[in-house]
Order: sequence, then C-alpha cells, then structure tokens
Amino acid sequence: MIVVSDVELWAGSRLLLSGADLRVAPGDRVGLVGRNGAGKTTLTRTIAGEAAPASGTITRAGTIGYLAQDPRTGDVDVLARDRILAARGIDEAMTRMGKAEIDMMGATEEETDRALRRYAAAETEFTSQGGWAADAEATRIAGNLGLPERILGQPLRTLSGGQRRRVELARILFSGADTLLLDEPTNHLDADSIIWLRDRLRSWPGGFIVISHDEALLEATVTTVAHLDATRSTLDVYAMGWSAYRKQREVDERRRKRERANAEKKAAVLHTQADKMKATATKATAAANMARRADRLLAGLEAVRSSDKVAALRFPEPRPCGKVPLTAEGLSKSYGSLEVFTGVSLAIDRGSRVVVIGLNGAGKTTLLRMLAGVERPDSGEVIPGHGLRIGYYAQEHETLDRDRSVLENMRSAAPDLDDTRVRTVLGSFLFSGDDVAKPVSVLSGGEKTRLALATLVVSGANVLLLDEPTNNLDPASRQEVLGALRRYAGAVVLVTHDEDAVYALDPQRVVLLPDGDEDLWGQAYADLVALA
Ligand SMILES: Nc1ncnc2c1ncn2[C@@H]1O[C@H](COP(=O)(O)OP(=O)(O)OP(=O)(O)O)[C@@H](O)[C@H]1O
Ligand SMILES: [Mg+2]
Repeated sequence: MIVVSDVELWAGSRLLLSGADLRVAPGDRVGLVGRNGAGKTTLTRTIAGEAAPASGTITRAGTIGYLAQDPRTGDVDVLARDRILAARGIDEAMTRMGKAEIDMMGATEEETDRALRRYAAAETEFTSQGGWAADAEATRIAGNLGLPERILGQPLRTLSGGQRRRVELARILFSGADTLLLDEPTNHLDADSIIWLRDRLRSWPGGFIVISHDEALLEATVTTVAHLDATRSTLDVYAMGWSAYRKQREVDERRRKRERANAEKKAAVLHTQADKMKATATKATAAANMARRADRLLAGLEAVRSSDKVAALRFPEPRPCGKVPLTAEGLSKSYGSLEVFTGVSLAIDRGSRVVVIGLNGAGKTTLLRMLAGVERPDSGEVIPGHGLRIGYYAQEHETLDRDRSVLENMRSAAPDLDDTRVRTVLGSFLFSGDDVAKPVSVLSGGEKTRLALATLVVSGANVLLLDEPTNNLDPASRQEVLGALRRYAGAVVLVTHDEDAVYALDPQRVVLLPDGDEDLWGQAYADLVALA
C-alpha cells in the first residue's frame, strides 16, 4: 500500500509536479502516463524512496519491487540466476548447500560429518523458502521473459542492458512484492514476453504502478490512469480503465480549450481597455494592473501551446555514395561456447530497406553493432563501399556520452556544423534554452532517444542502422519517427518489434537471424515481426 499526498517535485529549476495525490492499495492497478520528460520516472523513483519530494509525504506499507527505466548498476559479478533468487533470499541457502556438498568429500570422517550437518541446515532453510519449486518458478519466469537457462548462468557483467533489465523484471515478479513500480517494462521484451507479462499483471494480487506507452498493455491491465500533465504540473487521477480514460480526457481537454479561448478573449478585451486608459494620468495605475492581469492570463496559455509541440523529425539528406555502400561477408560471432550466428552475408544497396528479424537473443543487436563497426566479428568482415556514411542508433543510447551535455554531444556528432545550425536542429527536437546544457545522464528516456536521433540528423548518413528507434517515445514523438523513416531516402537496416515501424519502413528485404537467410519482404514476415 502506498499513499502519496500533496507531493511537489522539481527537476533542477523546473517544477514538475505539485499537489499530487495517489493511492495504491492491494489490487489497484495504476497506469502512469504523460509525455516524454513530464516527470514520470522522477515521480516513480520518489515513490520507490530513491529520491525525496520537495514537499508532501509518501507513506509505504509492505514491500516494493521497483523496475528502473535505466538498467541499474549493482554488483555485476553476480550470476543472473542468483540475482533473481536473491529476491527471496534463496541464493544464499543454495550457495551454502553447494559449498557443503564439496566439503562432504573431506578427508576425515569428522569433516564429512560437519559438512553433512551444514548441508542439512542449509537445506532446511532452502526448503522453507520454497526450495526447488521456487528455483523452478524463477527459471520459468525468466524463460517467459526471454532469458534462457544459459543466460541465467552468466554474470550480469556479460549481459546486455536489455537482458539486465529483464533479469530485474524477473527478480521483481519472483519476489512477490506487495507493490510493483514498473517503468516501461515492455521496452526490451518481444511480443511473446509482452503478452505473458500482460497476463501476469492482470492476475497480480498486489497493487502496481506501470509506466508505459504500450496502449494494449494499459488497456488490458490498468484500473486507474494517472496522467502527469507537464503543462499544468499536475497529476490527474482517473479511476477508470484505459478506454474510458481516453474518452474522459478528450472531454476534459475540450473543456480546457474552451476555457483557454475564453481567457484569450478576456485578455484581448483587457488589453484594449488598458491601452485606452493608459493615456489618462489618473487611470494609469488601473491600466497597468489590467494589462498585468491580461498578461497573466496569456502566460498560462503560452505554456499550453508549447507542450502541444512534438519533435519535427527528419532524417538526414544522405550524402552521395556508391551503388553498394555496405557489404558484410561471412560474419560469425560466439560468446564463449555459445554461437550467436555463423556465416551471415549481406549487401546493402544504396537506398535499400532491410528489416532484421529474429527472437530475443538471436543476435540482432550484435549484427547491427558489427555493421556499425563498434564490435568485431570473430570471422568474416564488414566492407565499406564508396562514400559510406553510417548513422547508428543504439538501443541503449551508448552512442551518447553520458557525462557531456546535450550540446556537446551534438557538436561531436557534427564538428563542421556552426552553433546556430546545431541549436536549430536541437530546437526541432524540442531541446531549447537551458535544456541544451543538461548532461545526458539526467535526460529522461524519451529525451535520450530524441537526442540520439538528432545526432543522426546532422550526420549526412547514407546508411542508417536503427536498433529499436521507437522505444521510450510518447505516441506523438513515435509518429514523428515513423514519418521520418517513411521519407528518408538513404538505406536503412532496421531492428524492431514495433509493427508500425516496419510498415513505415516498407522494407524490400528481410534478414532472418540466427541463420542469416535473406528473403524478399512479404506479408508472412509481417506476422513474424511482432513475435520476433
Ligand atoms: N538533475 C536534473 N537537472 C535538470 N533536469 C533534470 C534533472 N533530472 C531530471 N531532469 C529533467 O526532468 C524531466 C523529467 O524527467 P523524467 O525522467 O522523470 O521524465 P519521464 O516522464 O520519465 O520521461 P520519459 O517518458 O521520456 O521517460 C526531464 O525533462 C529531465 O531532463
Ligand atoms: Mg521515464
């Protein structure tokens, strides 16, 4: 049970939220929505207790399972399985059992006896915590989230950001916490896992808050919608399901628009009046007051307008290049004994559109990283063609330098560009004024995505390698990305589980991983995308 009352939140010098109230009792399922950068993650972190509100109170009863939007860095040498089991303290008993087992082969009888007793004690504890059944349950949850047994045996250090987040999600679901706080849990999941998670949440006995831009998930799971309105800095709570909320909000917004129009009219009248009175000395003060009142009315309106803006996205004009700007021959990659793929060959023609599909772990991100030149294949090679310019969008935003500012990141992406142009591009991606001085590390998920896309725009790339470019984006920004994808004239290699992104790309070819087979695009593959 969580009770948020009269909470106020700030990000730097910007007020995010004031007077926020929210209750999450067992069985309450809350969807937290709002545009990118509205403060959803900040609010959730605060509820989780990782930050303090500027004012107001948050009371928590029971345990909380918090899935952060950015994969967390904890002890990275822990095995994935132990990380999950640790949520119920089972890992420790298991480790003790394992140690005792080894010691049982001790030299003296006495040593063996001691080890046996230790084993028995550890096993009792293990059993009381659910024992092998719990271990199997953890494995099952992980499997449903696209983490096979093989991955569970690896230390977190060796996992991708997406895999680490899935481990965290598995851990939280396994823990059986009373209240879940899930920040965009579907970002790194394939369609099967998303459907599984949806069902799991639907039957979750506790309460939860989920931040998501996935309407199907919201529709299926939530009973309350909390809308963080960035313009008014309020949290509007609607005690109803997703579709009802959509309708209600439309009504509310229409009403607000009407009020806005009225205020505008009133301000105009006040201004005219004030102008007339200004000339008369005795009425000057009254006139000034009147003008101020009108300005105040309008000031509120300006903010509303700017929030309606979405990033005006456009991918770069591709620089001229040869007929086949990028070729890959016989690419292979293994991690230890695990073969990700072997002998993948690929030729990217100028202006061609290719989509890569394959299940979680099939190596889609690995292939893109190799094509981008940030990872070396074990064998085979990537051959740049004449005039090749690559624009790489990485799923985890690792192309961005977290310690440097928005502006600095843009400058290093396009050193030749003058400041005015850089700022113009940033402006069209909704970074204005003080925003450009922010270090990347404080940006919201959607803002990072926008910045990474902005660095592509100034790059003049003629081959774009895009890894899940629509993750984290609010619906309006996502539509912009899809539009930009549709209009881009250069070549694109796309990895996504977003069906609409594939339709926007209108691909000619498909590469299937892990086999690396190539085929012409067809409807049959469209059905596969959501599954892959
Ligand atoms: N230390 C800071 N200094 C300045 N601004 C900050 C700081 N921390 C966060 N912000 C800003 O606060 C705003 C809210 O961020 P938050 O991550 O809560 O948004 P969000 O609603 O989760 O967005 P998204 O949907 O993109 O994940 C963003 O504009 C972010 O850049
Ligand atoms: Mg966020």
